[in-house]
Formats: sequence, C-alpha cells, structure tokens
Amino acid sequence: MNERLSIIVPDTFSFYYYRCSEYDVTYLIKKSNDAYAQVYRYFNDETAFVLSDLIVHKDSRRKGIGTELQIIRENIAKELGGEVINLWLDVGYEQWKREWYERRGYKYSSEEDGVIWLSKDL
Ligand SMILES: CC(C)(COP(=O)(O)OP(=O)(O)OC[C@H]1O[C@@H](n2cnc3c(N)ncnc32)[C@H](O)[C@@H]1OP(=O)(O)O)[C@@H](O)C(=O)NCCC(=O)NCCS
Repeated sequence: MNERLSIIVPDTFSFYYYRCSEYDVTYLIKKSNDAYAQVYRYFNDETAFVLSDLIVHKDSRRKGIGTELQIIRENIAKELGGEVINLWLDVGYEQWKREWYERRGYKYSSEEDGVIWLSKDL
C-alpha cells in the first residue's frame, strides 16, 4: 500500500488496488456498500489516468457521495504524478452526466467508436 494514498483517502472510505493484464494498476474506492469509483493508469503513459465506474446506490444519491468519490480519485491520480485525466461516456449518455463532469472541469476531447471522451488537466 502506498502510504501517501492512505492519507488521501478518508477513513470513511475503503481503498483497494489491483493489477490486471490490460492496465498498469486500477484503484478502487468504496463507501460501505453504497458507492464505488475507479481510476486506472495505462502501462504506456504514467502521466495519463482514466476514470471508470462511478456508481452510487439510488437510495444514497444526491448527498454528495459521488462528488466525494470524484475528488478522491482525482487526488489519487495527482499524487501518482498524473497530469491529465480522461473519461468516456457511451454515445447516448444522458446529457446531465456530461454536464456533471463539465461542472467539475472536464472538457470535450474526442469522439470515436461509439464513445465520447472528456478530459481534464490536473
Ligand atoms: C452520477 C452519480 C454517481 C452521482 O452520484 P451522487 O452521489 O448522487 O452525486 P452528488 O450527490 O455528489 O451530486 C449530485 C449531482 O448530480 C446531479 N444529478 C443527479 N441526478 C440527476 C438527474 N437525474 N438529472 C440531473 N442531474 C442529476 C445533481 O444535480 C447534482 O449536481 P451538482 O452537484 O453538480 O450540482 C449517480 O447518480 C449514479 O450512480 N448514477 C448511476 C451510475 C452512473 O450513471 N454513473 C456514471 C456517471 S457518468
């Protein structure tokens, strides 16, 4: 466990990381059984991180948990030397989800293979 990352993640969240063949390392942050989010880094670029899977149980939404998870995973990426963070939405995404990220500093980057990419400089 990276000591610095334990400091970034508040005690009320659990924190895991794992390796699989496609990515260098994936970090997963979880709040009890209600919510989790992931951020991962590719093998080929230590400065670029990708977000995936931000999910809050429907009974626990609109209490700020999604925003907290978002801030934590950005801080993890920053602490690990990330300079840019990317995420994708399936074409057909609900507009408010894109706006949710845009209010948090993400900008349209590109569109390909049925997804749009948004990105933010850290
Ligand atoms: C997106 C999601 C993670 C937000 O989690 P949350 O804990 O409710 O988030 P917060 O309480 O921090 O923020 C709520 C925000 O979402 C907005 N929001 C939530 N549901 C909304 C809806 N149905 N329509 C429009 N806006 C909505 C609120 O206006 C608020 O915006 P603001 O904080 O920027 O003003 C949650 O709705 C979810 O799990 N959705 C299903 C999974 C999903 O789509 N995840 C990927 C998102 S791209």
